[in-house]
This record gives sequence, structure tokens and C-alpha cells, in this order.
Amino acid sequence: MRVQERLDRIFAIGGGPGANRVHGTPAEDEAHALAAEWLRAAGLDVTVDADGNLFGRSSARPDVWVGSHLDSVPQGGRFDGALGVVAAIEAVERAGAGSVVVFRGEEVGCVGSRACCGRARELPSTFLELHVEQGPVLADAGVPLGVVSGIVGYARGEFVLEGREGHAGTTPMAARDDALVAAAAEILRVRDAALAVEGAVATVGQVEVEPGGVNVIPARVRLSLDVRAPDTERLDAVIAGVGFRPRSRVEPVELRGAARTALREAIAGAGIEVVELPSGAGHDAGILAAAGVDSAMLFVRSLNGGISHSPDELSSPEDVALAVGVLADALTHVVSAR
Ligand code: GLV
Ligand code: MN
Ligand code: MN
Repeated sequence: MRVQERLDRIFAIGGGPGANRVHGTPAEDEAHALAAEWLRAAGLDVTVDADGNLFGRSSARPDVWVGSHLDSVPQGGRFDGALGVVAAIEAVERAGAGSVVVFRGEEVGCVGSRACCGRARELPSTFLELHVEQGPVLADAGVPLGVVSGIVGYARGEFVLEGREGHAGTTPMAARDDALVAAAAEILRVRDAALAVEGAVATVGQVEVEPGGVNVIPARVRLSLDVRAPDTERLDAVIAGVGFRPRSRVEPVELRGAARTALREAIAGAGIEVVELPSGAGHDAGILAAAGVDSAMLFVRSLNGGISHSPDELSSPEDVALAVGVLADALTHVVSAR
């Protein structure tokens, strides 16, 4: 099946365990170049905007966009982002209408879709994004597909802790000012701040230690922060609890428009029970929705306990094929309804 072959080709870019197409690396560029080839082969009009986002427009209803992203986290999964791009090409070809969009830098705060919406020229009427669920809800419910009801809000920033370097063998314990020991306490505090807000999560995913010698007391530590909550009030509460000034922030959104209805109807039309669920992951669809675009997301069941941002991320070829069909049907409906 062409979708699986294309996923394999994207996955092979960057090498190493899992997907390695971090934003701003040559691997992300290579993936975009490959997608551009496929867009041209599909007879679409290919353009790249000022921020590197890739478009393949058909002549019928180019204002209806379908797509996702091709950057990945380090050692990420095969499907995150890539599936939505490959599926969008199939859907636009099958519907003979709409535009494929491939955003840059989704994993680093949706920088591509944010820049695109920030320019606010020629925004689409509709955006459809197919994505793996990245969680266990659909598998636990025994259904292959789901419609996203809303997307979590998130804020990112950092803590920097300063200490004093010294000799690991000759500095008595009582005389140390160890920045990493202080950071350890901060990490526990971040966890507790999230636990105090129902539905919130907080993660320290990066720890940079300087000078970084095995026999040197750490003098400086940088911790990354990623905090999330399903609504603005709880996002504010967890940011206040963690006590940091976000470098970037994406507001939570509900997806409530006609595009969501089109996905529901396409799922029902395939004889599948319609399940709706919120997304705890951020997505480009959230950025477009916040910019006023009628946006909707179709989730495909994740296997392996719903693991994602991991090489173990998995969805079955059968579920993927079903999802691509539903996406194409929903697109057909959207382009003919307006
Ligand atoms: C994107 O995958 C995110 O939610 O971090
Ligand atoms: Mn993604
Ligand atoms: Mn991701």
C-alpha cells in the first residue's frame, strides 16, 4: 500500500532509532523535499512560504487545507505528523480538490503554523488533520478512529539554576553549592505543581549540566519546562504553581465547526461507531482553530498502550487505511458543501 511505503521512506530519513527529523535539521528539509516530489506527482501546484511550510494546491477548492507536519522529536515514532501528511496527499488526490499543507516545526511549538497564521493572509476556510491518537483511549474503547473535541493548551519555558563548580573529590559535602542537587528539588516541585491541578501535566524533558565533568560539581543547570492543561484557567493555575514565565504559550481550543461534523458523518458512513475525545498533545489544527479557521482532527487508534514520542509508536495498516478513506470522504463532503 502506497501510504505504508511512503511512511517507510519518511521514517528512513535521519537514521538512528525511531524518527529523527528535528525541526531545523537537514532531515526535516529532506522530508519536505520528498513530500514536494509526491505533491508534484499528484499534479498539485507546489509552493513554499516564507517560513518553509510546503503547499500543494489543486485547482478545485484550494481554500480547504489538509495536512500535518514532518518534523519529529528526537527518536520519535513512525506516524506522528508523517501519517497526516501522507494521508493528506491521498485524500486530496481522491477528492480531486483541496490543498495539502506540510507545516514546519510542530514539535517545537508549532512554529510553522503559527507563522502562517500570524501573516493572516489567505488563511483557509477549513483545515483537516489526520493524526495518531498518541494515547490509549481508542484502543481501550475498541474503536479504530476518533474525532477530536478539543486540544490542550500548553506553555513552555525554562529554569536556570546557578551553583559553584568545584572538585568532586576534595570539596566536602557541607561546602558545596551543587546546581544539579538544587535542580533535582525543582523537578520534584514541578511534578507536584501539576499534581495539584486536575487534568494538568508538567514535564522537565531536558537537563543541561555545566561544566558536565564526571568529577566536577555542577555549576549551572538548565531545565526545560512543558506544562499543559485542558482549559485556560487550569493552564494559568499550573503555570502559577510551577512559577515560571513562559517563553511560548498555545491556548487550549475546542473544535466545534462544520469540519468536525463532516468527520463524524464520514466515520458513521463507514459503519464505525463515532467516538469523540480531547487531545492532550498539541497540534497545528489547534493553531489554525485559534486563528478562526474551521478545523477538525481525525485520530487513528494507537497500539502498544498508546505510546508516542517513542520508536514504539504503532498503528495498524488496517486502521490507517480506514482513516485515509474517512479523511478523503470528509474532504469530499467539505468541498462539495460550500
Ligand atoms: C506535540 O507533539 C506536542 O504535543 O508536544
Ligand atoms: Mn504531531
Ligand atoms: Mn509529536
